[in-house]
Amino acid sequence: MSLVTGSEADGGVAWSDLEQHRDQLVDRSLRDLFAADPERGERLAVGVGDLWVDYSKQPVTDETISLLIDLAAQRDVPGFIGRMLSGERVNTTEDRPALHTALRAPAGTAVMVDGTDVAPVVRETLGRMADVAKRLRSGRLQGATGRPISALVSLGIGGSHLGPAMATAALAHLAHPELDIRFASNLDGAEIERALDGLDPATTLILVCSKTFTTAETMVAAETARAWLVDGVGDDVSTHMAAATAATDLATGFGISPELTFQVPDWVGGRFSLPSAIGLSVMASVGPDAFTEMLAGMGMVDDHVASSTPDSNGPMLLGLLDVWHRSFLGASSLAVVPYSSQLGGFPPWLQQVSMESLGKRTGADGSLVAGQTGPVVWGAAGTDGQHAFFQMLHQGTDVVPCDLIGFAQPVADPRLAHHDALMANLFAQTEALAFGLTADEAAATGVPPDLVAHRTFPGDRPSTTILAPELTPSVLGQLVALYEHRTVVAGAIWGINPFDQWGVELGKSLSVRIAAELDGDEGRLTHDSSTNSLIRRYLKLRGRSA
Ligand code: F6P
Repeated sequence: MSLVTGSEADGGVAWSDLEQHRDQLVDRSLRDLFAADPERGERLAVGVGDLWVDYSKQPVTDETISLLIDLAAQRDVPGFIGRMLSGERVNTTEDRPALHTALRAPAGTAVMVDGTDVAPVVRETLGRMADVAKRLRSGRLQGATGRPISALVSLGIGGSHLGPAMATAALAHLAHPELDIRFASNLDGAEIERALDGLDPATTLILVCSKTFTTAETMVAAETARAWLVDGVGDDVSTHMAAATAATDLATGFGISPELTFQVPDWVGGRFSLPSAIGLSVMASVGPDAFTEMLAGMGMVDDHVASSTPDSNGPMLLGLLDVWHRSFLGASSLAVVPYSSQLGGFPPWLQQVSMESLGKRTGADGSLVAGQTGPVVWGAAGTDGQHAFFQMLHQGTDVVPCDLIGFAQPVADPRLAHHDALMANLFAQTEALAFGLTADEAAATGVPPDLVAHRTFPGDRPSTTILAPELTPSVLGQLVALYEHRTVVAGAIWGINPFDQWGVELGKSLSVRIAAELDGDEGRLTHDSSTNSLIRRYLKLRGRSA
């Protein structure tokens, strides 16, 4: 275990208790902790809906958990979650609620925003989405030429892309066999070119996903797609374009018909918007029933986080472990490794959820935070990750906490002899990371003396394992909500607003200025000497001059 040196200012009693506790725990290896406590593997785990979350291979004892729970109480994390769930304006810098949970509340539950029950509006949008999805899936949604739509291209970026792309891929085994669902997010024209490649405009629906309907990447792609449609079917492309947005007036201004415009409520953050109309591509792919099951899975975890005691509250415990690693043990990153190739989009989805939420140095009250906040979040599907970055996880000089996610049932044909082998790898990795291999143990396996140092494994590489029965829509929804709430818990402890993202603005506005310069609209370049020089070189390479 490595230490964060120096005291975190503004700690409070629970914080300094945790610092002292950490100093006592620092010499206890996971080997010791397991040897001293045979029930540890069963006890330091929590059930969240269908998910079994085993955190026993984390560097904690019962006392650590109890002190972390004290910290949560001291920072009023349960109060913050309660205020979020009840629609208070917890997103203070944008003066909005953060009510993504309202999108998956069971039918019949009132959800109040500023004294108004928004549940009927949520239901109405879901109903309209289901209607279009059903017509698409049955070939009854027709384009300008009367031919059925058979392809949907979802344009969007960040939260308007990562969630739907991740979920569509995760549930590929349930996908409609004849619907071609594609995504384009990057501003690189190669992406939209590839997304449209081979499609027939007469049978394609373009879904423009943008909460603001102003994001450059998405609007440029939407223009390109509209020109492609006009080229193919003529000027009236109203049956070929749909929108998921909070800015419905802008969608209308763009020429998208109100029948194919789906409202994303203002009080849903972009990175939390998978259960909104932004998820229409997922619904089209797997059908409204499966989408509803995904929402129910999310709702199950929303109930869990709201009603469980802290010591049996999965998102609370995981958020606290994130704080333990980052603020007390000095870990600067978290690796997430789903043992499911279809869930390969989960790490990039989580990267935005976590890093856009927690990558902040200013507290919600406007003062600079003392100490560290959100870690780098990264990862890839196992077993691919094992052949890429696991070397570093096992023997590198940094300790990187990991989450390993696995499923009892495969999504592939169960007769294939793959699944036990896949899961054997997950179990093996958690064991190897935690307990390593000593020099004596390595030597005892016959390793030549000059290689013993290379073939030892330090162990004490922490991991949490999440085991679920099967990658169903409900389980996917549960995983999504588990990580969303975990992120909010860590944000509440650190005193930052997990729902804004001001850090993306400076680069955006500079790019607008530079785009004008590249266009020759601006005279003299007035950037620093590096940026000026790069722009001049770029223009020269493009055969133009500044
Ligand atoms: O990356 C910044 C961001 O504002 C994200 O928060 C958001 O998910 C993404 O851009 C897309 O925004 P929009 O849905 O408004 O196009």
